Amino acid sequence: MSPVLEMKNIHKSFEIGTVNENHVLKGIDLTIHEGDFITIIGGNGAGKSTLMNSIAGSFPVDQGKISLEGKDITNEPTMKRAKYIGRVFQDPRMGTASRLTIEENMAVAWKRGKKRGFGIGVKDEQRHSFQEALKRLDLGLENRMKMEIGLLSGGQRQAVTLLMASLVTPKLLLLDEHTAALDPKTSQMVLDLTKKIVEEEKLTTLMITHNMEQAIQYGNRLIMLNEGNIVVDIAGEEKQHLTIPDLLELFHKNSGTILNEDALILS
Ligand SMILES: Nc1ncnc2c1ncn2[C@@H]1O[C@H](COP(=O)(O)OP(=O)(O)OP(=O)(O)O)[C@@H](O)[C@H]1O
Ligand SMILES: [Mg+2]
Repeated sequence: MSPVLEMKNIHKSFEIGTVNENHVLKGIDLTIHEGDFITIIGGNGAGKSTLMNSIAGSFPVDQGKISLEGKDITNEPTMKRAKYIGRVFQDPRMGTASRLTIEENMAVAWKRGKKRGFGIGVKDEQRHSFQEALKRLDLGLENRMKMEIGLLSGGQRQAVTLLMASLVTPKLLLLDEHTAALDPKTSQMVLDLTKKIVEEEKLTTLMITHNMEQAIQYGNRLIMLNEGNIVVDIAGEEKQHLTIPDLLELFHKNSGTILNEDALILS
């Protein structure tokens, strides 16, 4: 069977031809298998978000090939990829429409990937299934479905965005520091929910985090980026037994650079 996603020799630069030219991704090779839950870690500017944006098609890459289940999607526009790629961003305001109600936002997510129906009307049977989905969050939002989503707290909104991203099972779920803007308790709630949804729906997932403990604790595979290269890629048993000092040592060995753990965790 083809891997879910395959990236071959991906290069991406910004501001080409100017003094600010920045070669961000320097030949990324990455194969993601069905059911992989990958945590991605690396310093500021290492290229983590750029890697994710390349997968989502936010911009064209300069070189290389991206395939999804064996199909070449390198030149496919982002709107088309959004039908099978779910995303949650760091900013709780992204990914949902503030002025629409919770149920209207869910209806929009439900229609993703479907050929017909552009309206945001909510049918009774849909409302029931949205209500059931919201109950899983355990935040009482199933009783507030007609409330504008912009009135929710950041954590509540991230929880609903996560639910929406998985409402129509995505082939790939991309999480770009989706708990970083939340207070520690709310962040943990959203992380627990992430784990639950990913495991129950068996979602193939990429999760960027700045927190090494989280990167070790969650998922079956861990990738570390440094200056546009993958310098650590470990999975399975090896990852399970990993400690933060092991990770720092691996990083040092493979990149020749010393990583300041505090900078990574606190940034
Ligand atoms: N659209 C863009 N236009 C110009 N430069 C960009 C763009 N997107 C990213 N960059 C630059 O590419 C580099 C890598 O950015 P990226 O956002 O991928 O880093 P990151 O690893 O996600 O960092 P952080 O941990 O701070 O989120 C940075 O120097 C950034 O300024
Ligand atoms: Mg980033």
